[in-house]
Amino acid sequence: NVLILDFGSQYTQLIARRVRELNIYCEIHPYNNLPDNVSDFKAVILSGSPFSVRGEDAPHPDLSEIRGKRPLLAVCYGAQYLAHFSGGEVAPSNTREYGRANLSFVKGGEQFFEDITTGSQVWMSHSDTIKKLPTGAIRLASTGDVENAAYRIENEETYAIQFHPEVYHSTDGKKLLENFLIKIANISPDWTPDSFVDSTVAELKEKVGNDKVVLGLSGGVDSTVAAVLLHKAIGENLHCIFVNNGLLRKNEFSAVLKQYEGMGLNVKGVDASARFLDALAGESDPEGKRKTIGRIFIEVFDDESHKIKDAKWLGQGTIYPDVIESVSVNGPSATIKSHHNVGGLPDFMKLKVVEPLRMLFKDEVRRVGASMGLDPELLGRHPFPGPGLAIRILGDITPEKVSVLQEVDAIFINGLKENGLYDKVWQAGAILLPVQSVGVMGDERTYENCVALRAVESTDGMTADWVNLPYEFLQNTSNAIINRVKGVNRVVYDISSKPPATIEWE
Ligand code: XMP
Repeated sequence: NVLILDFGSQYTQLIARRVRELNIYCEIHPYNNLPDNVSDFKAVILSGSPFSVRGEDAPHPDLSEIRGKRPLLAVCYGAQYLAHFSGGEVAPSNTREYGRANLSFVKGGEQFFEDITTGSQVWMSHSDTIKKLPTGAIRLASTGDVENAAYRIENEETYAIQFHPEVYHSTDGKKLLENFLIKIANISPDWTPDSFVDSTVAELKEKVGNDKVVLGLSGGVDSTVAAVLLHKAIGENLHCIFVNNGLLRKNEFSAVLKQYEGMGLNVKGVDASARFLDALAGESDPEGKRKTIGRIFIEVFDDESHKIKDAKWLGQGTIYPDVIESVSVNGPSATIKSHHNVGGLPDFMKLKVVEPLRMLFKDEVRRVGASMGLDPELLGRHPFPGPGLAIRILGDITPEKVSVLQEVDAIFINGLKENGLYDKVWQAGAILLPVQSVGVMGDERTYENCVALRAVESTDGMTADWVNLPYEFLQNTSNAIINRVKGVNRVVYDISSKPPATIEWE
């Protein structure tokens, strides 16, 4: 529906989120790799950029297929780009143009600014400014410092704004996008979780036909929602594999397997715990652990997928942030696609890939899951790393350490749930430290392990802060752990933010 051309702004994904919140589908493409079907898009948005239009390396794409041919909204860099190459003038600004500003002038009678008035707060983030508007432009808005904060081109559906409508601090930003997309570009806001499910199921039927698909379930939201969509489309031709690597949470393997069976999925649980733990014995390097787990997983999955005769497709729960081609700020020619050498890959990796969620953000995956009636508890499950407890046991891994950590983790996580704290936390878990310390229990001195508890709030795991859990909760949790888990006599709570720390300890 809507094409967003990315010039490398840190906010480009936010534009996409805002557009989709209006129930309008959009795609992000790098400015130097336009899709073939530009004419299929009903409107185009140009993103901001860390470049200056005056710079030699700056993005200068050919917009002849777009401008004047379909509604165009140019944001920040985009607005400067239009001005610079169409008779306007862009120069370094001599006043501060970062952060909050308020519109001091809004031209009346403009559809673009309908229901937006002077005083509206906008978010600026630019070091160049549009000194002179391009040919045929009409000024639509100004702020105290930025005279040309918005303009449109006469006789075209071309609009440009210097501020960022996509950031939360632009209070009428969403309204502006709505005016542009719904009123000016006449796009109907009908892209909803339900319509996504209907169209995706139809597409999957068409694409996969009567072929068999193999999919690895992890217990997480993405692979589960992908499986349910595929199941709706192809039924029993979807073969799911859920591998127990022996490093899951306590009882997770059986509980999740049961839940999957309850959902009608055709799923095979493979308990490969011993194979993983044997391969990990003596390994204490974090990257070494990850590599070993990755390698064994591929072996196990390959063995299992061979048992499914004539499988043609590999289903995956890949989501949009993993597939957006990023624009490098080091130069415009940086969009290089890597080609995999298929020769040495295990057989299942040679299957054709089907990824029903590849155009969705994480929160959209949850909404799609909810619209298909998935258990809210499953959809709200905290993220859990693929290598599982292996990277929460510092140093080498033994089956005994795994079971100690499983007990500790279960007390902590169940405690969060019982106290209504689980949904307030983005991710939580326990870490078994390679530290022993002295304690007393009864009249005996003990020399036992120390565990750390970690609970963070975050939106995407890139940055995170520790959660201010109530002291009383921490106190009760610590008591329960020390009293009930043999081998642990000390509990600490991690109060480090990311950065500079990371969420996991390894
Ligand atoms: P860090 O520790 O880098 O973690 O702050 C950020 C997020 O990534 C998860 N994580 C992993 N997930 N394989 C995974 O699938 C890994 O090797 C891995 N390491 C970290 C971590 O749990 C957090 O959500």
